[in-house]
Amino acid sequence: MEVRNFKFSDLLIVYILILSIASCNSWVVNGEDTLDVIHYGAKGDGRTDDSKAFVEAFKALCRGRYGNTLVVPNGRSFFVRPTLNFSGPCHSKNINIKIMGNILAPKRSDWGRECSLYWIHFFNIHGLILDGSGVINGNGEDWWSKALQFDKCDGLQITGLTHINGPGPHIAVTDSQDITISHIHINSPKESHNTDGIDLTRAIRVNVHDIPIRSGDDCIAIKGGSQFVNVSQVTCGPGHGISVGSLGGHGSPEFVEHLRIKNCTFNGGDSAVKIKTWPGGKGYAKDIIFEDIILYQTNYPVYIDQHYMKTPEQHQAVKISNIKFSNIHGTCIDENAIVLDCAKIGCYDITLNQIKITSINRKKPASVKCKNVHGTATNIISPKGSCVNH
Ligand SMILES: *[C@@H]1O[C@H](CO)[C@@H](O)[C@H](O)[C@H]1NC(C)=O
Ligand SMILES: *[C@@H]1O[C@H](CO)[C@@H](O)[C@H](O)[C@H]1NC(C)=O
Ligand SMILES: *[C@@H]1O[C@H](CO)[C@@H](O)[C@H](O)[C@H]1NC(C)=O
Repeated sequence: MEVRNFKFSDLLIVYILILSIASCNSWVVNGEDTLDVIHYGAKGDGRTDDSKAFVEAFKALCRGRYGNTLVVPNGRSFFVRPTLNFSGPCHSKNINIKIMGNILAPKRSDWGRECSLYWIHFFNIHGLILDGSGVINGNGEDWWSKALQFDKCDGLQITGLTHINGPGPHIAVTDSQDITISHIHINSPKESHNTDGIDLTRAIRVNVHDIPIRSGDDCIAIKGGSQFVNVSQVTCGPGHGISVGSLGGHGSPEFVEHLRIKNCTFNGGDSAVKIKTWPGGKGYAKDIIFEDIILYQTNYPVYIDQHYMKTPEQHQAVKISNIKFSNIHGTCIDENAIVLDCAKIGCYDITLNQIKITSINRKKPASVKCKNVHGTATNIISPKGSCVNH
């Protein structure tokens, strides 16, 4: 009897132990194993530094033992400090970080004097899905330069979230392929400096769609090494529009090709669609389509600037060719409706088609200005005149 009793209670203890370990690290929702940052010690009280808990939870997620989904739960605010490093490679192929609550960056005064390049850094994680209905609040601080940096994250998908008050670019994707960013909201004040909405650098096969972006700088910046990028149903403004570049800074060779910016709207803002390159640069920007664009009181809506930052002409420049501006309608704020300022080497195969841009300023009617532009202009209702050479 005694022996049997002893064995039974022993089993019970083991059973309770297993149960508590299991419930400590994961719980089951809809039959899917899910990890919760709370179970790794995060408080979510808007005050406590939850960075360590986030890193531990991510490590468990990455090991893939307790499931593929990490939840940041609803109804709480999690303080995480720069730089929060989420590093792969991960054991599991498709990992999902579901942000339902708020993630909040600290104010500089709360964390001393250090500066960081990134607030949250995702590195070398393949097949990451970042979604949920939560808010990522960069707190508008300028002491680190990028809010969410994704580096070598092939197969990345970002959807659903709201990003507000980014410290620099809200979302920066570098050295990654097969990316989808859609159905998110990006919102920071137009006075904020360097707050690009989305930055793509050496990003290949990218789809960005259905995103309203209010920012202080570029709405979307497509930088060197990017190829096969589609942007559609994006609404920009305030901000500086969708920019290719700047390319060729410090004389470096940069290449951008096969971009399609389609069905986008620009409210106000400092420009709509533009390509900017530095004199003295090498490389090219080619095979780029800007089409079905709507403008509301935008400055420099159609712009090629090969003398970026008013830098004087040099003997070398980034080559620009096969660029199509098509079906662009709306208003600009002064005469600078179409400005194509190409370097001496010339821009080639530039197509302007179906354009009607009028100025809201009667004293400054819309005009078209070009330098060294070769291509065709057809169905241009306004501005009047053409300066495109064959
Ligand atoms: C994050 O990673 C960077 C290098 O990628 C490192 O310099 C930094 O110290 C790390 N930060 C933390 C908090 O671990
Ligand atoms: C971009 O759009 C074009 C035309 O619709 C399509 O052929 C291409 O596959 C798309 N690229 C990506 C990366 O989705
Ligand atoms: C263009 O974008 C708007 C939203 O910005 C969307 O409602 C509309 O369906 C899109 N049109 C096409 C042809 O994709």
